[in-house]
Amino acid sequence: MAAPQYSSIVADDVARLTRDLEDVLPRFDGATVLITGASGFLMSYIVETLLGWNRSGAARPCRIIALDNFKTGLPERLAHYEGASDLQFLKHDIVEPLTIAEPVHYIVHGASIASPMVYRQFPIETIDANVGGTRHMLDLARNKQVRGVIVMSTSEIYGDPFPEFIPTPEDYRGNVSCTGPRACYDEGKRMAETLAMTWFRLFDTPIKMIRPFNVYGPGLRLNDQRVLPDFVSCVLAGKPIELLSDGKPTRSFCYITDATALMIRMLASNVAGEPLNVGNDEVEISMLDLARTVSRIGARALGRAPFDVKHAVSDDKDYLVDNPQRRCPSLAKARALFPGWAPKVGIEEGIDRYIRHAIERGR
Ligand SMILES: NC(=O)c1ccc[n+]([C@@H]2O[C@H](COP(=O)([O-])OP(=O)(O)OC[C@H]3O[C@@H](n4cnc5c(N)ncnc54)[C@H](O)[C@@H]3O)[C@@H](O)[C@H]2O)c1
Repeated sequence: MAAPQYSSIVADDVARLTRDLEDVLPRFDGATVLITGASGFLMSYIVETLLGWNRSGAARPCRIIALDNFKTGLPERLAHYEGASDLQFLKHDIVEPLTIAEPVHYIVHGASIASPMVYRQFPIETIDANVGGTRHMLDLARNKQVRGVIVMSTSEIYGDPFPEFIPTPEDYRGNVSCTGPRACYDEGKRMAETLAMTWFRLFDTPIKMIRPFNVYGPGLRLNDQRVLPDFVSCVLAGKPIELLSDGKPTRSFCYITDATALMIRMLASNVAGEPLNVGNDEVEISMLDLARTVSRIGARALGRAPFDVKHAVSDDKDYLVDNPQRRCPSLAKARALFPGWAPKVGIEEGIDRYIRHAIERGR
């Protein structure tokens, strides 16, 4: 196994999260939380935060069941908790039904292939995890009468929104291709939301759909083949940054602690039967400006001159097919539901933390 993914940056992120969330984390005291996709990027931060709370403020520790099939997850993300009494690792593919003997009080269902390059390679696994796998998790949630279940959806369910729907609110119905190369993911997630709402309507299962908009940060795999890891990988390899588009598409990037805080607030809340955008609406940045920003911050971190930015063509012929031109969340609902929450980490600080984490770990 590779070296643990832990770093002083992750430790500091977890300390910030447990401090910021001290009003809601006691809700999980003594509870059992099943987290699927736990060795993935987003879910490992939820695991870290709950275990961080166990070690800092919890009256009674919560217990975490960390499920993963390691399709894209990394065992080393949580390796530093090997042997911990409050964390049970469970190797399982959610495409198969799951029985758990003990009570389960919360479920965070994040298991899915998430990177476009990877889901285009594994479309059937992507559909199966999001449709059959989500159904298994909803059945479990119903049987266990859980207090809350998060179903990880995506901003991709909006497809390529028309300009008048940017920033995109939760009630926008989307402009999505059901036959294109991204459809296995986009439509798989749309069906996951349909299933979740069905369990809410029929069985009162307290589901909450989370729609993340480009979350990044320490531990997002450098070979994940999403745009920010690609740019950062170039910088760490000392190479020019390769732009695989014309540089015009825009995205809004959200640092992992801002996303984690909002997801945990949603899980702890009584809100149910609702989707929630999770992101950062402060900067909508073009891919060209993102490349220049990574170049500048990477050069500073490595003590060298800024990197060149050059255009290149992806080996994947579908790389740009159905690629949304703009993506920026409306966070009006998040702010109304959770007035104590707001994005705190800007893009410059977030990219700096991502790069410094990679340098500290030897990449
Ligand atoms: N990072 C983002 O910006 C973003 C954006 C939108 C949606 N999401 C969603 O959030 C969730 C987590 O994404 P991430 O970025 O952390 O990706 P990730 O690839 O790091 O994590 C996904 C995890 O799920 C596991 N997994 C995949 N299929 C599985 C299966 N059949 N059974 C068990 N485990 C399985 C993988 O091994 C991995 O550990 C996903 O559902 C993803 O679709 C993420």
